[in-house]
Amino acid sequence: METVLSGIRSTGNLHLGNYLGAVQNFVKMQYDNNCYFFIADYHSLTTHPTPGDLHKSVRQVLVEYLAAGIDPEKSTLYVQSDVPEIAELYLLLNMNAYLGELERTTSFKDKARKQPENINAGLLTYPVLMAADIVIHHADKVPVGKDQEQNLEMARKFARRFNNMYNVEYFKEPVAYNFGKELVKIPGLDGTGKMGKSEGNGIFLADEEAVIRKKIMRAVTDAGPTEPNSVMPEVIANLFTIMDIVSTPDTVKFFKEKYASCEIRYGDLKKQLAEDVCKLIAPINQRIKEIDSDNEYLSKVAKQGAEKARESAAKTVKEVREIIGFRKFY
Ligand code: TRP
Repeated sequence: METVLSGIRSTGNLHLGNYLGAVQNFVKMQYDNNCYFFIADYHSLTTHPTPGDLHKSVRQVLVEYLAAGIDPEKSTLYVQSDVPEIAELYLLLNMNAYLGELERTTSFKDKARKQPENINAGLLTYPVLMAADIVIHHADKVPVGKDQEQNLEMARKFARRFNNMYNVEYFKEPVAYNFGKELVKIPGLDGTGKMGKSEGNGIFLADEEAVIRKKIMRAVTDAGPTEPNSVMPEVIANLFTIMDIVSTPDTVKFFKEKYASCEIRYGDLKKQLAEDVCKLIAPINQRIKEIDSDNEYLSKVAKQGAEKARESAAKTVKEVREIIGFRKFY
């Protein structure tokens, strides 16, 4: 069985794009892999060093992942800062990460541009912490989006360099987990790009039905086709992309035919889309509420996750200390 690991950003609620694009795959993956999922709260300090309520946002992410179907009995689900061994491995790996290569990382340059008043060392060494996250459990595979490929490449480099420096075959080089064809990009409701948390174009798993309906009814459309069989502009194609995933094939076919014959009524299309999105989200939304009100369950899950993760992490750190040459006097 392969070990799959993924870090989850600890800011923002899950939207439909996160769910269909990644979380649903995590849920499936956990049945035939040894999965580690963690909330990357240390990492969040690199951009938000004084978070308003760190615990609350971590809690929300935990609640939503559980509600979406991550099974804490199957996967190891934990909070990064509950595993201090990660910080120790990060310190040790920092000794074989070089300033030049860290400065050249795209995500560092992007963030440095975005927050010129706070180009902190944590931001610079973000890829080292991420490498520590990954290699501490000897992960084989890491599901990452395009924006994280370079960070994963760095993790491979640090793992390889450690092995070379100490002349061991200790760390594996993690590779990207490819969802292949299943990878879907969910567009936003404003006709542009993809659904995002900051863009204000998203449907969230924690949204109430009335809110979801309102958002969909307000989605951007155009004046409608005037010629039969015309090519759909992006705004309309986007709605169909979502419909393709959440509605039945018959429903999709019905509206596509209406579009082709110029008889489509966007109001009807949106009503149907809202109906089907609500059907998908309703049970998750219900679970969010249940889990959110169950402190005892959350505390049990977090504790159990931390214990499982620490067991594996402590073993790695112990071995790494031995490889480097630390010995106790007592
Ligand atoms: N950098 C990742 C992101 O922004 C989050 C992350 C932190 C991560 N550590 C990780 C992802 C380890 C995969 C593996 O999305």
